Amino acid sequence: MTPTTALLDSGVMRRDVAEAVPDRSAIPVDPSTLSSLLEVPDPRPSAGIGLGVWRMAIERFDDDELDLGARWLDDAERQQASSYVRAELRRAYVLAHAAARRVVGLATDTPPEKVVWGRHACPGCGEPHGRPRAEGAAVEFSLSHTPGQVLIAVADVPVGVDVERHPDDPVALAGVLHPRETEEIQAAAHGTLDGGRATVRFTRAWSRTEAYLKGIGIGLGRDPHLDYLGTDDAPGRTLGGWVVRDVLVPEGYGAAVAVLS
Ligand SMILES: CC(C)(COP(=O)(O)OP(=O)(O)OC[C@H]1O[C@@H](n2cnc3c(N)ncnc32)[C@H](O)[C@@H]1OP(=O)(O)O)[C@@H](O)C(=O)NCCC(=O)NCCS
Repeated sequence: MTPTTALLDSGVMRRDVAEAVPDRSAIPVDPSTLSSLLEVPDPRPSAGIGLGVWRMAIERFDDDELDLGARWLDDAERQQASSYVRAELRRAYVLAHAAARRVVGLATDTPPEKVVWGRHACPGCGEPHGRPRAEGAAVEFSLSHTPGQVLIAVADVPVGVDVERHPDDPVALAGVLHPRETEEIQAAAHGTLDGGRATVRFTRAWSRTEAYLKGIGIGLGRDPHLDYLGTDDAPGRTLGGWVVRDVLVPEGYGAAVAVLS
């Protein structure tokens, strides 16, 4: 049994991107304890890419849960966690890493604290700061943490995930995106484009772009100005062999997942 099959059989992963993402947005699993991460109702088997997406509202995890998760981290992760001065950032980091260890550990039948955490080589420079990886696990994963929300995606192909809070001033930031996305955000702010407020449009484009760049593994080593993923409420886009879809998150956030198809 392959690690991915183990995740699928256990009901932890849904098999197909289209099924994990039945409508316009991926519907993530939304647990409130580290153990309930592995309880996934209604796994829908079908052929295709295996993908699981988990969203965690940090407020639902109490201190005991976070203390438990913190005990699973390795020395480097603990050091990174303690470098966050703001408690909300530290909590998000701990939860993201603990949850990823929990889910990825299942793929290799490894307890979360025994998962050996590492990084793939960056496709830009070859140094080990690309996508996160777990030694010996034949699954790919990605994580994203921001105050209030954590997302994890696990797949049997390279994957990237991103969650972002809406910015206060999307027009001021829009210039970092693809020129057409910048125009769409400006037009929405000026009331000349229907179909989404400027802030929602910005977060859509930014989270799609970051998910895609994290999937590739280069991150912001590639200019987010270069790739058009749009600001509209699209069912999904393909770009260079990647499928990029929005993930369902609470009001005030935007999120996306990118999988190599
Ligand atoms: C990856 C990156 C986009 C993350 O941005 P962010 O919105 O602040 O953070 P997120 O919470 O969404 O994601 C963070 C996670 O992405 C992952 N990540 C980091 N670099 C990554 C990369 N190159 N590819 C894929 N995933 C990456 C890590 O798991 C990280 O979590 P951790 O810091 O808790 O270990 C950004 O940090 C980045 O691009 N860094 C590298 C930039 C660069 O110049 N690289 C050099 C290229 S030669």
